[in-house]
Amino acid sequence: MKNRKKIVITGASGFLGIRLLDKFREEYEVYGPNRMQMDITDLDCIKRYLNDVRPQYIIHCAAVSDIGQCEKYPEKSHEINVTATVAIANAAKEQGSKLVFCSSDQIYLKNGIKTPHIETEEVSPPHLYGMQKAEAEKQIIRILPDAVCLRLSWMYDIQKASNAEHENLYTNIIKALKEKKTMSYPVYDNRSITNVWEVVEQMKLALQFPGGIYNFGSPNFYSTYELVAKMLLCMKKEKTLLVKDETTFKDEPRNLCMDMSKAKALGVRFHETLEGFHLVLES
Ligand SMILES: NC(=O)c1ccc[n+]([C@@H]2O[C@H](COP(=O)([O-])OP(=O)(O)OC[C@H]3O[C@@H](n4cnc5c(N)ncnc54)[C@H](OP(=O)(O)O)[C@@H]3O)[C@@H](O)[C@H]2O)c1
Repeated sequence: MKNRKKIVITGASGFLGIRLLDKFREEYEVYGPNRMQMDITDLDCIKRYLNDVRPQYIIHCAAVSDIGQCEKYPEKSHEINVTATVAIANAAKEQGSKLVFCSSDQIYLKNGIKTPHIETEEVSPPHLYGMQKAEAEKQIIRILPDAVCLRLSWMYDIQKASNAEHENLYTNIIKALKEKKTMSYPVYDNRSITNVWEVVEQMKLALQFPGGIYNFGSPNFYSTYELVAKMLLCMKKEKTLLVKDETTFKDEPRNLCMDMSKAKALGVRFHETLEGFHLVLES
């Protein structure tokens, strides 16, 4: 189809990218470069690729998304999560592309706020992944005030897109049930958890957001333990394998819940986590 707008999705082989690629194909001329086509640690390569395609939109998903890997490889993860992101922002500026960057709720970790987080809070993430995402956001907004940074929550799907895909909350539960292994989830833990398809479906709205930082995920009012108990009930599974983890985060309960008012004002609607889970199982 002629006159389709062009969109580049980085990290298109990843958990979120592969689903976005599928969705955006319906309406856009979609480019999902793999590492051979655009290794984002090669800054010239980023420039060359984006210069060739000249996309109207870029959704930047590529990252070292594993917190442990960031700690293990601090320099490499910084190169991918920050340096490459800055290069993509510079290239987007040059091309006049609208940039949407996938940031993370981990930025809010340990900032002392006990209610659902809002985008204007002071943040001081204690681990490298959060620090790198916070640094990338700051640099992106400085370079390209029109860019959109989405603070995504932990996402799940009830189906894997490939065997290589990393696990998520649902696949972890299924695996434990299948292997008859105990699953232990913390009671002192509150976080937004989102069906990835709700993110994918609403990404088009995010392409039109004014520049800035936005929380982008499901509200959730249960602890992770309570949530998993309710998910098992909804799946009609026994909760005999589920145990309470009453130690982790006991001294300082973890709060990664996000207030969605800012994105909601622009038409975004996420189901509350458990409600979203009910819906996806019924569909
Ligand atoms: N998944 C979640 O629950 C979650 C929650 C909050 C925020 N986020 C953020 O959302 C984004 C997407 O997450 P995800 O779970 O989809 O990540 P993912 O599954 O770990 O995928 C990461 C992607 O980045 C690509 N990549 C890594 N290094 C690269 C390089 N040097 N050059 C080119 N591509 C490279 C990977 O390509 P290869 O396949 O070649 O390795 C892969 O496609 C990330 O920015 C993540 O931090 C995710």
